Amino acid sequence: MFCEGMKTQVTIIGAGPSGLILSRYLAKHGIESIVLEDRTREYVESRIRAGLLETQSVSMLEELGIADRLKKEGLEHDGIYLQLERERVRIDLKELIGYTVWVYGQTEIQKDLGAACDKAGQEIHYEVSDVELHNLDSDTPSVTFVDKDGNKQVIESAIIAGCDGFWGPSRKAIPGVEVGSFERVYPYSWLGVMADVAPSTDELIYARHPDGFAMHSMRSDKVSRLYLQVDPTDDIANWSDDRIWTALSERMATDGWELKTGEITEKSILQMRSFVSGTLQHGRLFLVGDAGHTVPPTGAKGLNAAVNDVRFLGEGLVQFFGKNDSSLLNAYSERAKETIWRVTHFSWWMTSMFHTSTNEFDNQLQLSQLKHLLKNKALQTNLAENYVGIR
Ligand code: FAD
Ligand code: PHB
Repeated sequence: MFCEGMKTQVTIIGAGPSGLILSRYLAKHGIESIVLEDRTREYVESRIRAGLLETQSVSMLEELGIADRLKKEGLEHDGIYLQLERERVRIDLKELIGYTVWVYGQTEIQKDLGAACDKAGQEIHYEVSDVELHNLDSDTPSVTFVDKDGNKQVIESAIIAGCDGFWGPSRKAIPGVEVGSFERVYPYSWLGVMADVAPSTDELIYARHPDGFAMHSMRSDKVSRLYLQVDPTDDIANWSDDRIWTALSERMATDGWELKTGEITEKSILQMRSFVSGTLQHGRLFLVGDAGHTVPPTGAKGLNAAVNDVRFLGEGLVQFFGKNDSSLLNAYSERAKETIWRVTHFSWWMTSMFHTSTNEFDNQLQLSQLKHLLKNKALQTNLAENYVGIR
């Protein structure tokens, strides 16, 4: 038995960055939505993921009035370091193309979004289960779910936004979605570490070493975020804190530089995948962010591409609800995919160039590419354009 049905204009599945940024965008334009999330709010707000934002993502958060803390506590970076064995080269993003990037954790973005949703009285149902999508081909699609008290609920709306990440139910509700979808699972993973220690660098370091990739990012002037390439079959239990610090120090070693060590507060192994869904629209369902496309984190593109989707879908929905015109909405999949394939290519390129492969021919090609990049300004400009997200 279902409880009496709820009605709204847009049902949003998933309260990650895509879902909450979309709900704020819609509210700003006078469009109502209800958000459904299967995890607890605490879990969503402490899930460690992205750290690097393009200027355009920052602009979107500013436009929505949720960038005050970001602008105060975030770190604006003009450049990044690329390293091959002991040679470290600075890429001056600002000088090359005039834009910067911002370091600000996804956990903090989630907290800022949560606070903005509270202030606006946004309806968000956390800890739901059994989310199912129905009648997507009709003008009145619906979503059924079980709320956290165990009641069966139904929401009817004009539009459903699938913002439920790679593993959520939205994409799976599209018949035959596998046709025209593309996927690559990489033969390596990342061991990610959060540590209570001041960063040993002023800007991010991406390093390739014969033992594998290593990366130095940060969350503040007191917290470092670090990554190591590991085998996908590896177990986090094999990585003591000492072993992690030794590997990071060795892979990022360069003359006159030392990695500061500190207490590791979180460590986990993450799979690396590129995926693009065959379509981002089926009838009244639209896929947004990781639900429609996923990239390996090397190019720092996933969250930024999700924000780009929100802008395109948001524009389409404003026209649909405001002017009863569905042309921009129906162009969403094609519009968004242009950026999606650009970031998919960039993320694949960064990933393959910086990770060691078991195929020696591939290794030689990637080394040649990286050596060329470290010397060649045209290639560096191309990297800078993609990294800061100029489209
Ligand atoms: P998600 O964050 O996956 O959110 C989906 C939400 O849907 C989740 O809250 C989930 O719980 C919920 N959900 C799932 N199933 C259901 C269901 N059945 N019912 C209801 N809700 C459901 N990107 C960048 O741009 N820059 C970076 O620097 C960067 N670094 C990264 C580092 C790491 C280690 C990782 C793993 C990712 C990184 N990314 C980065 C990628 C970025 O984190 C993701 O692209 C981003 O989280 C996508 O947001 P999303 O809202 O689309 O999906
Ligand atoms: C991060 O800070 O977590 C981060 C930054 C840049 C990347 C990937 C991850 O390319």
